[in-house]
Amino acid sequence: MARHIISAKQFEKNEVLALFEKAKKLKQAFKQRKILDVARDRILTTVFLEPSTRTRLSFTYAMKRLGGVVVDFGAEEITSRAKGESFEDTMKMLDCYAPDIIVLRSKEVGAAERASKIVSCSVVNAGDGWNEHPTQALLDVYTMWEVFGKVDGLRVGVMGDLKYGRTPSSLSYLLSKFSNISIHYIAPPELQIRQDVLENIKNVEVNMHSRLEEVDVELDVLYVTRLQRERFADQQLYEALKGSYTVSTTLLSRLRKIPTIMHPLPRVDELSTEVDVLPQAKYFEQAENGVYVRAALISSLLSLNTP
Ligand code: NCD
Repeated sequence: MARHIISAKQFEKNEVLALFEKAKKLKQAFKQRKILDVARDRILTTVFLEPSTRTRLSFTYAMKRLGGVVVDFGAEEITSRAKGESFEDTMKMLDCYAPDIIVLRSKEVGAAERASKIVSCSVVNAGDGWNEHPTQALLDVYTMWEVFGKVDGLRVGVMGDLKYGRTPSSLSYLLSKFSNISIHYIAPPELQIRQDVLENIKNVEVNMHSRLEEVDVELDVLYVTRLQRERFADQQLYEALKGSYTVSTTLLSRLRKIPTIMHPLPRVDELSTEVDVLPQAKYFEQAENGVYVRAALISSLLSLNTP
């Protein structure tokens, strides 16, 4: 039976650490621009029914660097989805072409899980609406592991649109697999973290704030996210909240210690470009790590013989 990656809740700490060790080795190989020959005869299909740059491309680079083949579904408007074909039929049909992995992004919560019940290969959730983005969480926590040499005991601020964002929920679930984690959720009350997320991270020390200045401990990491404009039913509320919090060097200089700054990207105006030159800014490394972590995940799903 093929294994599916649907939620960050499904991982165990030891498995995550083993993936990180594999990602670290693949990083060394890929840094030398190597194309390995371990995924020959294997096909990964990317199906992105919502915009994406990093997730789609890093899966593509990861599979190609492993020596495998990638087939992209293409933009929804050039496919029969535009003629009204159902999601179920599209998935059934894709399965007939026998890919080894389908990487799926959809606007709909639960889409990856639905797909996993239709197809015979592995399905990887690359974002289902506001719900989850488990592989983003893997690369986020991998980046923390690389910076700090461990994950246990980290104090992480998660800031921005925590209600409609899918990266804060998956990040919270994955961090909750480690010990002594404290998370400071920083958001305007309208965008605070969802109750269902809190119910699944009972072993984490949780603190809520509406502004960064209210955080009274030295954070190790500040994870910033953008307002998910496309998910706001009320565009006036979006306009009112837009620009209400921006991480700038001035704001950071008021903290006792500047934390490692992370962001899943894309950024809009919540993270000033002047922060990019700080040694604590890790978001582009985070994006780069996406290739290594996703390659590690692919090789684990397909039991490849990687270095
Ligand atoms: C995120 C997403 O799609 O949820 N992007 C990404 O995959 N790096 C974050 C976002 O769109 O804000």
